[in-house]
Amino acid sequence: MQDIPVGLEEFLQNNHQLNTDKQNLQLWRYPKQTSDSPLQAWDNGDILLAESALKHQIEQNPVILNDNFGAISLLLNAKNPILYSDSYISGLATLQNAEDNQLKSPPLCHQLNDLPTSNHYLLKIPKNLDFLEAQLHQINQLLPPNGKVLATARVDQMTSGVKKLLNRYFYQVDIGLAVKKFRLIELSEPTQAPYSSYRYFATSYSPSNCELASAPNVFSRKQLDQGAAFLVQHLPDCTGLKVIDLACGNGVLSCETLVKFKPKQLLLVDESYMAIESAKKNTELFAQHSRLCYEIDDCLSKQADASADLILCNPPFHQIQTITTHIATQMFVDAARVLRKDGRLLVVANRHLPYVKILQKHFASVDCLAQNRKFMIYLAVKGSE
Ligand SMILES: C[S@@+](CC[C@H](N)C(=O)[O-])C[C@H]1O[C@@H](n2cnc3c(N)ncnc32)[C@H](O)[C@@H]1O
Repeated sequence: MQDIPVGLEEFLQNNHQLNTDKQNLQLWRYPKQTSDSPLQAWDNGDILLAESALKHQIEQNPVILNDNFGAISLLLNAKNPILYSDSYISGLATLQNAEDNQLKSPPLCHQLNDLPTSNHYLLKIPKNLDFLEAQLHQINQLLPPNGKVLATARVDQMTSGVKKLLNRYFYQVDIGLAVKKFRLIELSEPTQAPYSSYRYFATSYSPSNCELASAPNVFSRKQLDQGAAFLVQHLPDCTGLKVIDLACGNGVLSCETLVKFKPKQLLLVDESYMAIESAKKNTELFAQHSRLCYEIDDCLSKQADASADLILCNPPFHQIQTITTHIATQMFVDAARVLRKDGRLLVVANRHLPYVKILQKHFASVDCLAQNRKFMIYLAVKGSE
């Protein structure tokens, strides 16, 4: 093993150790990384939001929206916060980090539940403006006259589009000075019946013209992803088979599969509640031909070994804003376990992503089924053992 240069070791340890004046927390992303992983489970925005909430003497039971890995909830543990999120992974990370730090886990409330009422909402502003608008819309309806929203965003995230949305939903919008690349924003006095062109579901169309409804936080909600468009041209005949659409998003790959073939069973899996909600809405009309199932999951952690014949996957290559292969890798490892003997995994990916080597580690054969200027489609087959 290579020696770690002097001084770097401390940096690497600190990467998972969050120390503030009041608390020392060990925090990890989910799934937990090795201790030398550079992936960090919090950013300066989390600290700014938690510390500002304490300065503002927020009341008990604030609602925290979009706490990625639980840092804000755990820094504010004494306030008994409630976590509200569209991400199943965020919930798992928060539970794991609470347990590791011997703190009580905050109640987890997912995005499809009603937003809990509170005098204080703490909002980590998401990158996706449609999702931000959906959440501002929810808070606008519930915030009492004396209530307050504290939000944070990276300095470069505070675009005119974000400011326009904040002003659309709140009369009082105070944007603070930059602190370590983040700004604190205070929102109060919800506007009445705000003018809004916002619609919860956006509509796009699959190549076979299936209408696709996508909730605000769904990947590529307004137009078909180019990788997905390429993969649907190469779907194998899966009539009579047990198929999984892994990382299904709005279910576009499933819709195209169901238009062309009659799988015995089709399971759609994603970690986003809004993705599963949308995928269900888009595929339910095919239920008379095939058994359709929907699962919120981290990759395929809930699926039995050797239980599927074919898995289709357009994997994510980032977690929050970090580009990473660790989720795709976990998807391939899980797929190899969940496929039966000779079962097949079809993956579409940008050409530059280093997936061949990872797939070769877990599958008996890996071939390029098709390629174009931007994408590769890999066919990985599980051996007969
Ligand atoms: C590139 S999109 C593909 C969506 C859709 N299948 C398509 O082709 O347009 C990747 C999807 O992976 C989901 N995802 C991210 N991490 C995941 C995880 N750990 N387990 C399951 N799904 C995950 C995201 O929510 C997103 O919907």
